[in-house]
Amino acid sequence: MLRLHLDQSTHMASRSLPVIRAHVGWLEDRLAEAFGDAAPRRVLDVACGPGLYCHELARRGHRAWGCDVAPAALRHARAAAASEGLACGFHAADLEDPDAPLPRDITDLDAVTLWYGEVHAHPPGAMLAALTALAGRLRPGGLMILEYQPWELYPREDLLEWRACEGSPFADGPHFWLQEYHWDEASQSEINVHWIVDPATGAASATRRAGAPGGTRTSRGCARPPASSAACSCRRSPAWTPATSSRC
Ligand SMILES: C[S@@+](CC[C@H](N)C(=O)[O-])C[C@H]1O[C@@H](n2cnc3c(N)ncnc32)[C@H](O)[C@@H]1O
Repeated sequence: MLRLHLDQSTHMASRSLPVIRAHVGWLEDRLAEAFGDAAPRRVLDVACGPGLYCHELARRGHRAWGCDVAPAALRHARAAAASEGLACGFHAADLEDPDAPLPRDITDLDAVTLWYGEVHAHPPGAMLAALTALAGRLRPGGLMILEYQPWELYPREDLLEWRACEGSPFADGPHFWLQEYHWDEASQSEINVHWIVDPATGAASATRRAGAPGGTRTSRGCARPPASSAACSCRRSPAWTPATSSRC
């Protein structure tokens, strides 16, 4: 997945650097509008992945922090910041776990951002609690920038597709990749499951996650685990969009 984040030829996991630079420039303009000066800013980027937004902010003289659940992405974020001598801090934190708080000194922020953070992929109650806690770290008048997939552009479709590939976001080497997408009208959620099948052994496994109004259901099925892997995600519509939000 880290390789996919850093791949400049696809926006599947992270945007390419020119797009990230444009987003950061847009954020600087919004902050100048809000605070009327060009001072260095304090910004927390939530679900930061490999830290590309934080790195760009720090290159422009701002103080940036990032948090995410993905260890490999965080390792890359820290190493890249250290190699360039950038003023960034990266922390492991789960948006859905209020008991894993960020350090206290990440406060008095000019902005909290959630770029491409799939705000719609989390149970609404957990997300609202996380955003409320994050808003408490903003300075008065600070900006909460949330990017989400617009409801009207949401694909409501069932899709089943096989591919034989040399590599995919979910596995290295030759394998079969089965993608299943299902739109669940009752819960207004999309469930997608990615099956990875080893052609040599036929081994397959899958993790399924389905959003539900009361929370998240997770189940895992596995045939021969060492030879295969699978991942899936559930996209949820942003019907509960908070009042203070922006998207680019
Ligand atoms: C599409 S990627 C975008 C990463 C980054 N914002 C960027 O634009 O480069 C979504 C990110 O959300 C993170 N994520 C998923 N669930 C999370 C959670 N519960 N808490 C924190 N981060 C999470 C993933 O690890 C991944 O890095």
